[in-house]
Amino acid sequence: RRPKKRTKIIEMMEELQKENVYIKDAERVEKLLCQLIQDGKSKLQIITDFDMTLSRFSINGKRCATCHNVLENSSLVPESKKQVLDELRDTYYPIEINAKMTIEEKIPFMMEWWTKAQSTIVACNFRREDLTRAVRESNAMLRDGCDWQFSTLHEHKVPMLIFSAGIGDILEEIIKQHSQMYANMRVVSNYMDFNHDGMLVGFKGDLVHTYNKNEGALRNSDYFTTLKDRRNIILMGDSMGDLRMADGVPNMQHILKIGFLNDNIEERLEKYKEAYDIVLVSDSTMDVPNAILKKIL
Ligand code: TMP
Ligand code: MG
Repeated sequence: RRPKKRTKIIEMMEELQKENVYIKDAERVEKLLCQLIQDGKSKLQIITDFDMTLSRFSINGKRCATCHNVLENSSLVPESKKQVLDELRDTYYPIEINAKMTIEEKIPFMMEWWTKAQSTIVACNFRREDLTRAVRESNAMLRDGCDWQFSTLHEHKVPMLIFSAGIGDILEEIIKQHSQMYANMRVVSNYMDFNHDGMLVGFKGDLVHTYNKNEGALRNSDYFTTLKDRRNIILMGDSMGDLRMADGVPNMQHILKIGFLNDNIEERLEKYKEAYDIVLVSDSTMDVPNAILKKIL
């Protein structure tokens, strides 16, 4: 008799056979998939990053806008401030994606980047209603398959937490323009504070940057407590900081981590393969997560 195949589900899924899909420990992923499928949708919740995870990294070789870039590239920000934001990005983005620094070493730089960017944005004096146009005129877009994913998760009542160091008001607007904000979605992000005239005066609450999502997760423990029976998690991210988005989940049983590796690929691939169960290199679609959801739902 032939030995029983130990990676049967993986081998049956053509989406997982593509060249840009990396699975370091196929037996572990096989077990995880098997458990997620067995436990079904009533035990499942999704925790995902937004920028460059739900949103697309590039199109035809050109970078797509992050939440912050939507503003930077819009007429709401005067040239002088654009230059400030550009310089900040040129200084700090290489640190964000540096493969040699530890998260702890990066944190003070991220604090600086976000704090300086937020005060630059606040100094631009624009209004809430201007955001719709800024998003429409930007090239921010969702990965192919997000729309299907959102409506399907909603239909099956699977909760989705979007945990973003971007800007909450802008990410919601991007989702509304390219898909729909559904009742099963909850967003934790940096939200803008507008005064009674609708003018931007600051940002609300505690700062979320790329590498403090674990603290944010703990602050949202109430949310996770209400979902305490949903012990299985699919986590999606594009940064090493995203791996800690599920830190506040009580009674977690199984977590499948799917990582999008968009940039600085050669240097980071090994680390991503260690940290994420499935790594998708330069993938502009949600094909793999969606194929897995189809099996579970
Ligand atoms: P996240 O995807 O981990 O939630 O992080 C948000 C992204 O926003 C991060 O990759 C860096 C980016 N960003 C900008 O593009 N411009 C900025 O001014 C800031 C503060 C962040
Ligand atoms: Mg991201």
